[in-house]
Amino acid sequence: MTEIATRASNELDIRGVGKRYANSQSEHGELQVLQGIDLHVPAGRFVSIVGASGCGKSTLLRLVLGLDDQYEGRILLDGQPITGTGPERGIVFQDHRLFPWLSVEQNIAVGLRNAPFTAAQKRALVAEHVELVGLQGFEKSWPHQISGGMAQRVAIARGLVNRPRVLLLDEPFGALDALTRSRLQNELQQIWQKERITMLLVTHDVEEAVFLGDQVVVMQPSPGRIRRIVDVDLPHPRNRSDPRFIRLRDDVLGDFLDVRTEPPPGPAPDAPRWPSAIGPSGLQLAW
Ligand SMILES: Nc1ncnc2c1ncn2[C@@H]1O[C@H](COP(=O)(O)OP(=O)(O)O)[C@@H](O)[C@H]1O
Ligand SMILES: [Mg+2]
Repeated sequence: MTEIATRASNELDIRGVGKRYANSQSEHGELQVLQGIDLHVPAGRFVSIVGASGCGKSTLLRLVLGLDDQYEGRILLDGQPITGTGPERGIVFQDHRLFPWLSVEQNIAVGLRNAPFTAAQKRALVAEHVELVGLQGFEKSWPHQISGGMAQRVAIARGLVNRPRVLLLDEPFGALDALTRSRLQNELQQIWQKERITMLLVTHDVEEAVFLGDQVVVMQPSPGRIRRIVDVDLPHPRNRSDPRFIRLRDDVLGDFLDVRTEPPPGPAPDAPRWPSAIGPSGLQLAW
């Protein structure tokens, strides 16, 4: 094993990160989208990020992916500043972004296009990842022949096939129906336990965030910043009906609704914490 490989631990360090976009409608001609983001993600950790729409979650993932180097602060992977995109960081988006003219296995192989492997090694890696996401028998299928959930599995396999050290997931299950979403959450959890890759998941779904995350980062908008980080100290796989799970989920959810709603005009000590139209079971919030 090389010295670099021995030292590599897949630790991600986000220090004092801020990001502004030019915006003619803002007071100073620019919009502060992220401010003072400090996040330390130890190797192999699963971190979920939740936050209102527009609070900069996708922007943060773009910076970690290396698509944009115009930001304040530092982003380090194993102590080294990230520079541009690189094979050690993979991403999965909400829309699967498969190429319609490529088969399932060819789409997965796209993740290996710049990888220093022989054709035979690439074939073996694709086959391994087809199996990892349970798509054996569909290797030759076209994207239009498979379901949304299967397409998202292909996108996850494509994100993992290059064996990244960090996998970024931007609302990967947001467009799927509830049953498929829950199945894929279980599968992602198993993949993470097997591969032990550092994962950073942005989601709208508080239950998903708590189900998968070792930590849940709650962000708040204007400018996008971290409101608090909640440790989810429950063993995997998690039981969604465990009272401790429900308590943590409702704690995070309540935090959110605090951000979203104006304080009531007068003291209302007995008022329910959730607006009745939403309720604690309405977990998929329309932010
Ligand atoms: N390329 C861009 N140029 C200007 N403003 C942008 C750009 N990308 C995102 N924004 C703005 O930055 C804010 C955060 O966006 P985003 O990171 O997509 O939020 P989230 O993923 O949390 O919904 C939004 O107000 C959005 O309009
Ligand atoms: Mg987003």
